[in-house]
Amino acid sequence: MRRLKRKYMNDFPILNRKINGKDLIYLDSAATSQKPVQVIDAVTDYYKNHNANVHRGVHTLGDESTELYEAARKRVASFIGAVTPSEIVFTNNATDSLNLVAQGWGLINLKKGDVVLTTVAEHNSNVLPWEYICERTGSGVEYMELTDEGLLDMDVFKSKLTDKVKVVVLSHASNVLGTILPVKQISELAKEKGALVVIDGSQAVPHIQVNVQSLGCDFYAFSGHKMLGPMGIGVLWGRRELLSNMIPIRFGGGMVLDVDKKTYELAEVPECFEGGTPDVAGAVGLAAAIDYLDDYGMENVRKHEIELTSYAIEKLRTVKGLWILGPHNPDVRTGLISFVIDGIHSHDVASILDSEGIAVRSGMHCAMNLHKNMQISSSTRASFYIYNTLEDIDKLLAGIEKAVGLLK
Ligand SMILES: Cc1ncc(COP(=O)(O)O)c(C=O)c1O
Repeated sequence: MRRLKRKYMNDFPILNRKINGKDLIYLDSAATSQKPVQVIDAVTDYYKNHNANVHRGVHTLGDESTELYEAARKRVASFIGAVTPSEIVFTNNATDSLNLVAQGWGLINLKKGDVVLTTVAEHNSNVLPWEYICERTGSGVEYMELTDEGLLDMDVFKSKLTDKVKVVVLSHASNVLGTILPVKQISELAKEKGALVVIDGSQAVPHIQVNVQSLGCDFYAFSGHKMLGPMGIGVLWGRRELLSNMIPIRFGGGMVLDVDKKTYELAEVPECFEGGTPDVAGAVGLAAAIDYLDDYGMENVRKHEIELTSYAIEKLRTVKGLWILGPHNPDVRTGLISFVIDGIHSHDVASILDSEGIAVRSGMHCAMNLHKNMQISSSTRASFYIYNTLEDIDKLLAGIEKAVGLLK
């Protein structure tokens, strides 16, 4: 495992940077991951050698660009187990994907009295699109609380899953607690009630092997930039029959077959959802990121993170007055740890860590409902990925101890 890590770590040029005179320790991958040279090179090669708009011209570069874009779609489809590449809609990011489902499906299917069932732990991007649609359709969002450990109590879920629930909206993995939800079981229960299941996979796809068919959900959204890919490319997977009955939310070039003043004929799924010039280089970079992750092996990504998370939990528990949020069992969480230190603000912790070259996140991580529910104003989050080591965690611990010494 250690040899494997060293081989891959050298692929990330940014990790050679010094921050405040210290070696960079990047512990903010849940916000965005760093990019290996293979991804950077794929994007550069696209712009150097193939750049042209897709699906439009009849010239060689246009064909090459279209081929690369559609090959990237196939690559994403096989990575997450889609039935066909046409179930993959390229978007700008997970936020864009979640808005597309809420507006494209929700606006025409939800009505007065219907319920969108979710939890208090969602990222704003997974709940605000539904609040917006519920306001317009007379339906309502209902929030489930989590247990003190940060888990979803399945009895609570079953009791909330009434006939009024039309859609269940959940994060596969929480961006604050790390909790991995049992999506397969959730989908089976929702199906029995005829409710759709929309999963925000932003914090799951980069870390665990995801197969949308075996999960049994209906829509699955994620961003490329958290899984070694470039910023600006996102994915919405949806069941073909559901995508075919959705309305586009971005109208313009590239998403119609014909226009005749007052009428237009939509292009097929997924093109009808991809109006305007797409981020072709982003798609190419995402495909390269998937190749990279496949080469590393998703089972090794997970093993490595369990090793780091177990070690980090053991070490952080030794700090007096530090509280780890979410479950302590690394088997039910991803490789991120959010924590609170009594009497010290998260921004102060993060800035002392930054002075040591350690990048962590502080604040509410776009999960305001969760922080308010836990009655805490903010938390500090350290998130790990394939390029982190046990030594990084030792340095994190030393940095936290320094912050406690200075600020308490
Ligand atoms: C759980 C979760 N959902 C959605 C998002 C939104 O991702 P993006 O900003 O790439 O759209 C994030 C980003 O941090 C996230 O962690």
